[in-house]
Amino acid sequence: MASSNELKGKRVLITGATDGIGLRLLERFKDGGAKLIATGSRPKSELPKNWPRKVTYVQADQSKRDTPRKLVKALTKHKWSTLDYLVLNAGVGLAISPEQETAMQIRHSFSVNLLSPILIVRALYPLLASEEPGKLTLIGSTARKGNQNFATYSAGKAGIHGFARALRSEWDGNMGVQFVDIGPVATGMHERAGMQHKWWHRLFLKPDFVADRLFELILEGKPAAKIDHADWIAQSLYSLVLPARRA
Ligand SMILES: NC(=O)c1ccc[n+]([C@@H]2O[C@H](COP(=O)([O-])OP(=O)(O)OC[C@H]3O[C@@H](n4cnc5c(N)ncnc54)[C@H](OP(=O)(O)O)[C@@H]3O)[C@@H](O)[C@H]2O)c1
Repeated sequence: MASSNELKGKRVLITGATDGIGLRLLERFKDGGAKLIATGSRPKSELPKNWPRKVTYVQADQSKRDTPRKLVKALTKHKWSTLDYLVLNAGVGLAISPEQETAMQIRHSFSVNLLSPILIVRALYPLLASEEPGKLTLIGSTARKGNQNFATYSAGKAGIHGFARALRSEWDGNMGVQFVDIGPVATGMHERAGMQHKWWHRLFLKPDFVADRLFELILEGKPAAKIDHADWIAQSLYSLVLPARRA
């Protein structure tokens, strides 16, 4: 975990931080002493009860065109002229067969998961490209390789993966670009996607485990990483072995 000094005063923007992985990641940055601005699509009145007091919330629905402008406005209002970490985490899924998905649903999925992140990066580039460059993290999914009933979601995540790779070559190592693939996590996302809760959902990764690991990876800055069950098994074995090695 980061020490408070490591993140003290660092400026961090996390999208999709009102729930799930984003909310937990926000708490870790806050505990590290970072200054935070966070987004979601819900109104401020519907923020979770445990919303950290000093974190600024910006309601920015990524299916709407004005989201990048709203974010620039909020950052300017807070006199942020630089950004140390930009974590593009907001995402939405819909469990539906590709032939049944409506054009409107497909547009919504691409806006939130692919188009909006690209436009946000474009709008916030000047803040990232300061003398001490900021770090960009894009949240992907192992579903990008293709998951049944998630064709558009998978395509959006594959697109964001391609975008991360392209940025890495465009910016040629001058600015940190990280892409993190994540396996199935037990957040509310699947229910919101319209999936019935099944017994095997209990086998999904725990959101706190994912947030801890994601936080470590962001601070490490490794360009490409994955958080999945193999990672969870490795961590569990390591924590079993570590006390024995210390003894
Ligand atoms: N859960 C999984 O199994 C899994 C697996 C791999 C990757 N991921 C990825 O991890 C990220 C976080 O997922 P999660 O599981 O934490 O999901 P979650 O619990 O459903 O949270 C999603 C977050 O995204 C925000 N969001 C949704 N629609 C939005 C919109 N139109 N505009 C702005 N924000 C919006 C939500 O805020 P509001 O509710 O306020 O709109 C919420 O804060 C996503 O990118 C997802 O694709 C998840």
